[in-house]
Amino acid sequence: MKKIISLILVIALSVFVFAACGNEKTDDSAEKKVLTMATNAEFPPYEFYEGDKVVGIDAEIAAVIAEKLGMELEIVDTAFDSIIPAIVAGKYDMGMAGMTVTDERLEEVNFSESYATGVQVVIVKNDSAIATVDDLFGDKNYTIGVQTGTTGDLYSTWDIEDEGLGTVSRFNKGADAVEALKIGKVDCVIIDNEPAKAFVVESEDLKILDTAYAEEQYAIAVSKENTELLENINKALQELTADGTLQKIVDKYIKAE
Ligand code: ARG
Repeated sequence: MKKIISLILVIALSVFVFAACGNEKTDDSAEKKVLTMATNAEFPPYEFYEGDKVVGIDAEIAAVIAEKLGMELEIVDTAFDSIIPAIVAGKYDMGMAGMTVTDERLEEVNFSESYATGVQVVIVKNDSAIATVDDLFGDKNYTIGVQTGTTGDLYSTWDIEDEGLGTVSRFNKGADAVEALKIGKVDCVIIDNEPAKAFVVESEDLKILDTAYAEEQYAIAVSKENTELLENINKALQELTADGTLQKIVDKYIKAE
């Protein structure tokens, strides 16, 4: 009996020591605070999957910001239209998703300084009757594919659908809207220029119209309550702009034409 008890003690002790060692390791990394970034990784070259990892311009900029803040970056992939509500609810520290600064969003969250410019463009089939953005405002009642909750969705809803000039068809992913275009379920897709380019190179029968629909600024969304984080992000962005890091990251993903 004694033997068994001491055996149990030895086992218990080694489990304890083992666990303690393990703890020490996690304690080390736990010292670094986590910076959570909500994104929607369906938006190349800003955020997309490489294997099971989210990469892209936003992911890399966020990583260097986190480094400057002495924090550890954690990227959470979620539906685009749930990013702002989650930031407002305090679920994540920041939203970074090629996200356009708009007056409506500014009512809910704060935005950092802009780190990129985006342009809303129109993708059509090569043989499309739609030749310019103005054609979407004609009497043909075109169906426009968009990603739900994006500015492409908002603008075309306000300017075209609400005016009775066409129909907006909403998809969870930009790529799904583009698939719908390929099989003729929608007549065009309104989406940001860089993902548009990425989607169009993959498919020979699509093109991007020369005329742009809207120009906008991308920035990082932060809860209105977290002004300290916003200041720190802006400071980091200024430094990363000044030392060329930001441009380097952009150049890695967007090749000059
Ligand atoms: N710039 C557009 C917007 O802010 C589209 C962004 C979509 N981003 C994404 N990661 N899916 O509404």
